[in-house]
Amino acid sequence: MEPVPRSDCPETIRELFAQISPTYDLMNSAMSLRLHRRWRNLAVSMLGLSPGDRVLDVCCGTGDFAIPLRKAVKESGQILGIDFCAPMLQIAYKKRVPMRLALADACRIPLRSESVDGVTVGWGLRNVADYESALREIYRVLKPGGKFVSLDMAVPRSRFSRSLRAAVFKTVIPVLAGVFGRRREYQYLPNSTNTFLSREGQAEWMRKAGFNDVIWRDLFFGNVCIHRGKK
Ligand SMILES: C[S@@+](CC[C@H](N)C(=O)[O-])C[C@H]1O[C@@H](n2cnc3c(N)ncnc32)[C@H](O)[C@@H]1O
Repeated sequence: MEPVPRSDCPETIRELFAQISPTYDLMNSAMSLRLHRRWRNLAVSMLGLSPGDRVLDVCCGTGDFAIPLRKAVKESGQILGIDFCAPMLQIAYKKRVPMRLALADACRIPLRSESVDGVTVGWGLRNVADYESALREIYRVLKPGGKFVSLDMAVPRSRFSRSLRAAVFKTVIPVLAGVFGRRREYQYLPNSTNTFLSREGQAEWMRKAGFNDVIWRDLFFGNVCIHRGKK
């Protein structure tokens, strides 16, 4: 199957996630070898949150950041998840995730400026057609001193890891995607990593949006990366 380039059309992206929403959680666990929970915990720990803090999860999808975030901010904290795809949010509602949910675009966040202590995005920024606007919006809603983390797939730096990854994309992913009946859609997601920003490119866009102290941390042999920036 031909690689599918990253789409810059929000409607196409929303429709893609609507199509895969029923199988998203299963596929996510399978593709990450169930490690995504560990990576989420690590990303949340990089926010340095305290009990009672207010946090925003942008592109929250089926809400899997809710549990680590709730552990960090405790019962007294407030967590809002936003996503522009209603079927993804419906799965989160059904799972009774411990956060409030709202149908909203990452490029028009329905919060006051400087109103949250931390922002998470998981496998989201790459899927936002206008990620520059989303970064500016995330910066706007963060309080001064607040932190933002983006957890996403990445292209490994080592040639060996890149070859292994290419083999997995060619063999394992199409089989799994075939089992779930969504070959093209699940082919899109990993492939879009190749046409998204590099680690340095993403850090640069974060700085352009205003973030400072931008760092990143590679995981899973460089196949996953967490970026963090401060306001
Ligand atoms: C790969 S899923 C990630 C879901 C979740 N963050 C997670 O960690 O599993 C990407 C999500 O980004 C959402 N998304 C893409 N563009 C968006 C936008 N402009 N505004 C809000 N959500 C968006 C999609 O609807 C989808 O739910």
